[in-house]
Amino acid sequence: MNLETIRTDFPILSREVYGRPLVYLDNAATTQKPLCVLDAMREEYLNVNANVHRGVHYLSQQATELHEGARDTVRQFLHADKTEEIIFTRGTTESINLVASSFGEAFLKEGDEVIVSEMEHHSNIVPWQLLQARKGIRLRVIPITDDGRLDLEAFRALLSERTRLVSITHVSNVLGTVNPVAEVIALAHEAGVPVLVDAAQSAPHLPLDVQQMDCDFLAFSGHKMYGPTGIGILYGKERWLEQMPPYQGGGEMIDQVTWEKTTFERLPFKFEAGTPDYVATHGLATAIKWLQGLDMDDVMEHEKLLTRYCMEQLQQMEGIRIYGPQAGMRDAVVSFNVEGIHHLDLGTLLDRMGVAVRTGHHCAQPLMQRLGVSGTVRASFALYNSTEEVDCFVEALRRVVRMF
Ligand SMILES: Cc1ncc(COP(=O)(O)O)c(C=O)c1O
Repeated sequence: MNLETIRTDFPILSREVYGRPLVYLDNAATTQKPLCVLDAMREEYLNVNANVHRGVHYLSQQATELHEGARDTVRQFLHADKTEEIIFTRGTTESINLVASSFGEAFLKEGDEVIVSEMEHHSNIVPWQLLQARKGIRLRVIPITDDGRLDLEAFRALLSERTRLVSITHVSNVLGTVNPVAEVIALAHEAGVPVLVDAAQSAPHLPLDVQQMDCDFLAFSGHKMYGPTGIGILYGKERWLEQMPPYQGGGEMIDQVTWEKTTFERLPFKFEAGTPDYVATHGLATAIKWLQGLDMDDVMEHEKLLTRYCMEQLQQMEGIRIYGPQAGMRDAVVSFNVEGIHHLDLGTLLDRMGVAVRTGHHCAQPLMQRLGVSGTVRASFALYNSTEEVDCFVEALRRVVRMF
């Protein structure tokens, strides 16, 4: 992997903030986009733009080909069996809301249980709480161990004849923990329970194979994996999607509409009401192809090295507390606090030195409660980050700490 060449694909990485070179370590929030993605989207707006599916004219057909071609690129990326199983959404959040709403409508009733974990992002908590309020379901929570791993024994004990769905993150956006989703899915399936995997934080870093994983649903966002904002994916096994009612109503998702009765389109269109963001789908497909053009083993190796190197540097600092498991068991996320200094102050001062990190609760307030903190500082890496940037970050942090 030639880092220098890769970085030239991301002009934003060469800019300065406050007169200092930017060190962008907020990749778990969103990644930067390579030129090829920006070019593909610009080219589509410039030369192809037309609404998809409905037009008989040339441009509409060309835009439709790009849009449906993107669906097939996503299918290949996930190793899904059929394009019918790939639903375009606005992001992970909408994908999970779709399942909560539609699977919830079809399969959940009062007293039924959905299992999530203590390390979930709010987007895998609140949709289930809304369903709890609407339908009287019960939300059960898998606790985590003190070093930030799933307590699998507790999970086993939570699975019961009342469990209807397990919805779990693949990688924690705070702890970096890579969850043993294959094991979770096997255990859930033994109990006849389907599983949704939130792959928002794994899609840019780990190979995903939904057939091998055997998950029932999987959600991710384009913008966290070098693609545009506003586009996400819900993968669902055909047999579940077929049984689920539409999520929203409108154009594109219907077969026939009369005042008496409306019939719906086949999959995947049944779940895609309204004009889709067909430029973003093309952008996402371009990002996926760009990623596939790299050696994924090299990418994983590089990101592991960055994470390990960063943790080793930080661990040498006094008063620092890093959350989550040891380096080999985590993805490219390092969350920490420094004793006696508020995370927001650390983040603000790091920013003045050109280092972009995230501070706060990271949309995981229940996890913050478990950790006993109001928030953390989080550095998160993408494949374009370098060990020199980790050095800059650690040096800046040392300077900030010395100020207090
Ligand atoms: C684990 C996890 N799930 C879900 C989301 C929500 O993603 P989005 O805001 O793109 O819908 C995020 C975003 O940070 C995340 O990290």
